[in-house]
Amino acid sequence: MQFGGDIAAVILAAGSGVRMGASVNKVMLLLAGRPVLAWTLDRFESHPSIGRILVVAAAPELEQVRRMVDAADVVPGGATRHASEWNGIRALAPDIESGSIRIVLVHDAARPFVTTGEIECVIAGARSGGAAVPTLAADVAHVMGVNASGELEDPPLGLHAVQTPQGFDGRLILAAHRLAAQDGFVGVDTASVAEHAGHQVRVVEGSRANFKITTAEDMILAELVLAGALVGPDTLQV
Ligand code: CTP
Ligand code: MG
Repeated sequence: MQFGGDIAAVILAAGSGVRMGASVNKVMLLLAGRPVLAWTLDRFESHPSIGRILVVAAAPELEQVRRMVDAADVVPGGATRHASEWNGIRALAPDIESGSIRIVLVHDAARPFVTTGEIECVIAGARSGGAAVPTLAADVAHVMGVNASGELEDPPLGLHAVQTPQGFDGRLILAAHRLAAQDGFVGVDTASVAEHAGHQVRVVEGSRANFKITTAEDMILAELVLAGALVGPDTLQV
């Protein structure tokens, strides 16, 4: 095993993309001629520390995804993001338990522009603290709170948008997901599953470049990024 090859990346691609409004899963839509998922996989396949990639795909798309990816295993997803993520992590259980996988990254296939630096910071945060997620300070300049009496008040301080990849010690997240299954807890993301099990989650710096493709406008923005039409990804004002 090469140095650092003890990291696995679980790429979640088993959604349907309702908000995109396309006739196919948004991660299969073409960006500069290639599916969104293919661009996302590039970021992980080219990363020297990642020894294993596992794609979680929607059941009807399993074969299509298997044909598309060479360096990755493909497993079927579930009805929710939580269920899909659990299917992916569960498939890694023997390697986590044997110690050949020590760190698990869970990433949205719909985020094709994650940077190598972000992946590195998440890995470092997960190695030292057990759980780490990239976040971006929310732009709340024009956001106010409204209290129970319908009056304006200052918004809570320190609001951050949470991104992926979310990184974890493998044994920690496997045990946390098993506990969630036992408790019937359904997380909004992987970090919430770790928190449910009582773990602190570290924050590392995310980026505007790592935006999630959710709506048709995001596809236009993504095409502009790939065409080099924007000066630099971190200047994105999305
Ligand atoms: N995802 C998944 N399994 C699900 C739901 C979502 O693997 N049952 C994946 C999506 O493919 C996506 C990521 O989780 O890469 C983030 O989810 P989201 O952006 O919400 O994607 P969708 O659920 O597909 O979109 P929508 O909510 O608009 O239907
Ligand atoms: Mg969704």
